[in-house]
Amino acid sequence: MPITSPQARNWWSIPIGRAEKTWLGIVVVLGVAMFVMMPIWHAFGAQNSPTETYRVSPDAFWQKVDAFNAATGQVSVRTDQGVKPIGDDVYLGAMRYFWVPNTLVLEAGRKYRIHVSSRDVNHGFSIHREGEPSQKANFQVVPGYEYVLTMTFDQPGIYNVICQEYCGLGHQIMIGKIIVEGGN
Ligand code: CUA
Repeated sequence: MPITSPQARNWWSIPIGRAEKTWLGIVVVLGVAMFVMMPIWHAFGAQNSPTETYRVSPDAFWQKVDAFNAATGQVSVRTDQGVKPIGDDVYLGAMRYFWVPNTLVLEAGRKYRIHVSSRDVNHGFSIHREGEPSQKANFQVVPGYEYVLTMTFDQPGIYNVICQEYCGLGHQIMIGKIIVEGGN
């Protein structure tokens, strides 16, 4: 065990032992296997994050957020609980220190395209189901980019949308809500 300095000063010229060779071999094989898995997992992994992203000006994106949040019955409606999309597209805007709309109403089991962007600074989009400490999603929200997150909520319930990127003095109050209704 190499806890103390080796006595012989030419230890680097002593051939490596069989156990060392075996472990080095295992490490190389594992390393190569994980390296090969990266592109395979990228193409076939079921856990991959959606990667659809577009350049958008903050103003142009905010027009879509305003139209969605207005809930005039064209792209969304307002229920007692919050803003509910009519189609599958949801627009969620981040600005210091709010999510717009603040409360979304979605249906369980339905596949949505959630468009997310920021009006001002870098924010973070993370989803936490109420009563569960684990995080369900985590994305950067950078101004100038529109991210399209394809999401299906399997379970009805209340999910908090928490900004996880420090964005200023009100960062810790930047919490939105997604109410997921119905389902099985
Ligand atoms: Cu927005 Cu922190």
